[in-house]
Amino acid sequence: MQLLKDRIIQDGKVLSDDVLKVDTFLNHQVDPVLMKAIGEEFARRFENDGITKIVTIESSGIAPSVMAGLTLGVPVIFARKRKSLTLTDHLYTASVHSYTKQETNEISVSKDFVTKEDTVLVIDDFLANGQAALGLIDIVSQADAKLAGVGIVIEKGFQPGGAFIREKGIRVESLANLASLENGEVTFIEEEPSK
Ligand code: G4P
Repeated sequence: MQLLKDRIIQDGKVLSDDVLKVDTFLNHQVDPVLMKAIGEEFARRFENDGITKIVTIESSGIAPSVMAGLTLGVPVIFARKRKSLTLTDHLYTASVHSYTKQETNEISVSKDFVTKEDTVLVIDDFLANGQAALGLIDIVSQADAKLAGVGIVIEKGFQPGGAFIREKGIRVESLANLASLENGEVTFIEEEPSK
């Protein structure tokens, strides 16, 4: 998605060979105009897949997911990373280990909101080692729902998550796929033309 790649080049800060800071539009300050375009692009890519729900994870997955849900006309459920006061039982849970942050979160989604009648699109902001996406995929499978695929705003193609998930036969659509962040420079893996 050219608009997103241009924004990454313009505003992204390469913090190290494997971390890209995009706090100005995705991870802290959110640019609603860009998020709307991102949501529309996810919706376009999955428009013929009969999506009934979008499942994401708090916090940075929520903005692009809500915009995709608005365009597709479907609800958005965000997995919680911490126990909620009101959401205490009747939950699907999965364990998500973050290599980047060296912490493990038990993520949870209410059984009320994902059921076997659903066709789910999983969305997240970054795909690195794939642990968050795999946790969400696990929850979709616990619910016996159908998984249409995974939509990612920024994939770090030089980390193993994307390949690991695709090897399972799961469709992964990344709007920007980073080839490298070496020498402080962002390079992209060219997208295959999407339908
Ligand atoms: P994984 O889920 O693919 O295995 O990723 P990993 O454990 O490596 O990442 C943990 C957190 O760090 C996730 O956010 C992920 O989005 C974020 N992250 C990973 N690589 C980058 C990067 O290069 N740049 C930025 N900005 N973030 C990155 P999180 O903890 O869930 O945070 P949030 O959603 O609450 O913002």
